[in-house]
Amino acid sequence: MIEQREHWGSKAGFILAAAGSAIGLGNIWKFPYIAGENGGAAFIFIYLICIALIGLPVLIAEILLGRTTQRNPVGAFKKLSGKPFWVTVGSMGVLAGFIILSFYTVIAGWSIGYIIEALKGSFSLFSDPSIASSYFDERVSDVSWIVGYHTLFSILTMLVVYAGVNKGIEKGSKIMMPVLFFLLVLLVIRGVTLPGADKGLAFLWSPDWSKISGQSVLIALGHAFFTISLGMGAMMTYGSYLSQKDHIPSAAIQIVFLDTLIALLAGVAIFTAVFAMGQDPASGPGLIFATLPVVFAKMPGGVIWALLFFLLLTLAALTSAISLLEVVVAYFVDERKWKRHKAVLIFGFVTFLIGVPSALSFNIMSDVHFFGKTWFDNADYLASNILLPGGGLFISIFVGWIWGFDKVLTELKKGSESLFDNYPLVIKAWKIFLKYLSPVMILIVFLHSVGLLESAMLQFRTSWVMISLALTAVYLLSKRSK
Ligand code: TRP
Repeated sequence: MIEQREHWGSKAGFILAAAGSAIGLGNIWKFPYIAGENGGAAFIFIYLICIALIGLPVLIAEILLGRTTQRNPVGAFKKLSGKPFWVTVGSMGVLAGFIILSFYTVIAGWSIGYIIEALKGSFSLFSDPSIASSYFDERVSDVSWIVGYHTLFSILTMLVVYAGVNKGIEKGSKIMMPVLFFLLVLLVIRGVTLPGADKGLAFLWSPDWSKISGQSVLIALGHAFFTISLGMGAMMTYGSYLSQKDHIPSAAIQIVFLDTLIALLAGVAIFTAVFAMGQDPASGPGLIFATLPVVFAKMPGGVIWALLFFLLLTLAALTSAISLLEVVVAYFVDERKWKRHKAVLIFGFVTFLIGVPSALSFNIMSDVHFFGKTWFDNADYLASNILLPGGGLFISIFVGWIWGFDKVLTELKKGSESLFDNYPLVIKAWKIFLKYLSPVMILIVFLHSVGLLESAMLQFRTSWVMISLALTAVYLLSKRSK
């Protein structure tokens, strides 16, 4: 017998689960340092534009695909098109979920590991970042440490998804997301009340327009995609548990708002503490796993703050990881008629196994290169640079051009009649952004990330010339086809 498809118990449940997917390592770890490195408020400004003009329209499109078809990404494209090409696009999504999860659990494992390190008092020895960073190097070169926490985090992810959409994902998100928010607010208050916090605020909030180039626009857009979990059908899958009466645009706005708010607050919490404790803001994994431990070591009551911070990071990662596993599980449940429990156990375990070489890429397999990169870097590259932007491109093309825009609007209108009646312009704007702006911009990011835009073209002026040319071309083509 086929199990009845579950639905979210409430709209708030959906919003918290989807915000949980969106809010992850991307917000707490990556956003603060890319914002800091790329011109602070100037970058944040560009990022907000990318989120509003491209991220939000594509998010609405993804949720809509899911709700209309009540299917995983493969099933959704099968139902609406049936063409092998589009079904492949759906499969790419499931594959991306698989691959991202396999290395996401490794990094998230470090976060659990650092909760334990904080408890053990390891940070109290850190008088400067070089000590903290060699301690970090020692931890990740310890195979049992890194694989152990990867295992632990994978099990936690499986437990939540195993319990089901309502009893696992929804209930878990309803508990974890408020806790996450509360922890972050505490950390922000701690950060801004430290003497010298203003230097951190200045680092994050003073706009340095000279750092803005075509490159930073691409970084902003790429991150906008990753941070809202777009491009592989995670939001589609979550949307597939929505009922027809829910207002998709309003849910999407709330998800994007929460995601952005948390990223900005994380930036404030981290940089106020880093600058107040007289540290340099490092980039990459170093910011969280080398700089912050030193910051905590120097702070009064640092053990507690360290504990709260790594708990925050772990919760954020967990609510994202479950959305990744859910995509894979939904595929096996919908398309292959597997029982949820079997799909979770088997594919949770398989993703765990594929993640092991990613964990080993930091130690015994660090010299084993495929295509010039470690296993971990390959997995990250394949997912973040190829599958996600590729998926995002095809999703926006599908909804904008292939599905049939009348049908798209009929579906979108369900639950959001008032928006259509009162703000028809908003709907028009959505259509234009989705049909023209998103595909062109995502294509540019995609070409860039697979290295097809030579570095010369990444200069500020060249990029804008290209963007305008591409926009004009699409405009002319669409006029001709009318
Ligand atoms: N959005 C999450 C973050 O910011 C990561 C993530 C979860 C994700 N699910 C995804 C990214 C699906 C792309 C697609 O960390």
